[in-house]
This record gives sequence, C-alpha cells and structure tokens, in this order.
Amino acid sequence: NNVNLVKVEGPEQGAEHVFGMIKEELENKRLNVLGLATGSTMIPVYKKWVESDLDFKGVITFNLDEYVGIGAASPNSYAYFMNEHLFDKKKFKETHIANGLADDLDEECASYEAMLNENPLDIQLLGVGENGHIAFNEPGTPFDSVTHVAELTDSTLGVNSQYFENDEAIPETAITMGIQSITNAKKLILLAFGEKKRAAISKLLEGTVTTEWPITKLLEHKDVTVITDLDV
Ligand code: GLP
Repeated sequence: NNVNLVKVEGPEQGAEHVFGMIKEELENKRLNVLGLATGSTMIPVYKKWVESDLDFKGVITFNLDEYVGIGAASPNSYAYFMNEHLFDKKKFKETHIANGLADDLDEECASYEAMLNENPLDIQLLGVGENGHIAFNEPGTPFDSVTHVAELTDSTLGVNSQYFENDEAIPETAITMGIQSITNAKKLILLAFGEKKRAAISKLLEGTVTTEWPITKLLEHKDVTVITDLDV
C-alpha cells in the first residue's frame, strides 16, 4: 500500500521523527497551514516544538475537534489542552479551534469548514482512537463528511472519561472536522503508540478501506506517514 510506515521505539522517538518532518517543511517554505490534534499521543510532539527554535510565526493552525458545551476555560476542553501544551508557549500567525460553546453549532461547523477551504492544510497531524476513529469521526461516519457535530460512541466516552477533571460531565457530542476535511490535507502524519492502538493499525495495514474503521480511508491518500512503535 501507499503508507510510509515509520517504526520507532516509542513516543519520544516518534516525536523526534515528526520534528524532523515539520522542520524540513518549514525550511522549504511548504508549511503555511498546519492541522493539529489533541490527545496524550501529541504531548511529546508539542513539547519538542516548544523546546526548539522552530519558527511558527508564519503558520496558521486548525485543530481537528472540540467538545460541545465546554470552552477554553475548562481544563477538559481541547482549547485548554492546546493553550497549555503549545499556544501559550509558541507564537503562531493564527490558531483556530471550533467553538464548542457556539449558540448555533451548525453555523459554527459551516464557517469552520469554509475557513479550511480558504486555507488548505499542508499537513494534518493525527492520532487514532482505539476503535479506529480519526478526530471524532467514529465508525460508520461517511468518508465524504465535512466539519459536523458528532455523537461520541460508548467506547470513546469510556476511554476519554479518564482524562476528565473536576466532576464535569464528559460531553457526548463534539464538533469535528470530517473525514473529507481531514484527507483534503496534502500530507497526513499519524502517530499510534502502544498495544491499545494495535487493532486500528492492523486494520489500516490489512489494506481494506471500510467506514467501519475510519482510519482505513488513509489508504486512498497519496502522502501518508504512520509513525508507530508496534510490530505490525
Ligand atoms: C480523542 C481525539 C482524537 C485522538 C484520540 C486518541 O478521541 N478526538 O483526535 O486521536 O482521542 O487519543 P490519545 O492520543 O490520548 O490516545
């Protein structure tokens, strides 16, 4: 298949590989719009950027997703995560995250998608859910989906609840870029570490494209790098 598989020792080495790729794209002036992801997988990646002299001052970012009903003031929001791990420490030209507190969520999704269309993604960073979801595109999501409000599956709610602080209820819906919005990016970089991600990575490498495993849509993209510590 078309996937450029990069085998690493673990998350630290994975972050180093991403760093090299980003540095090269920045130096060659090919990185103007960068798609970002949240989740524990991304923490070492952003840490490395923060500790480096990489210059993102000309870069516009878009985040994949955000929970509905909470905003940057909540430690559980992805806006908070991004501020804490990256945006408070590195200067970007513009940063965009869908607003989970918007009154009109459909309007918020439409305007987010319009902004993406005006600023095509050069690179999109991705993690993967245990059930193969990318961003919050759960199994069964149509491949031609654009930014929308998604219902989270029980599996995802279960995995994500461990990160929820203060007794705040875990939102059951989120705004997410669609599978189409994600695969529109020129270059995709997906990171997956640890046994919990084995099923998703195995499905991808098996080579059958199916909506039951959203990650498999990456097989039809022409520039995909998968960085993993799994022997698959
Ligand atoms: C959430 C996010 C995904 C992320 C996934 C994996 O569901 N919406 O974008 O890829 O978690 O997170 P982690 O890196 O913590 O395993």
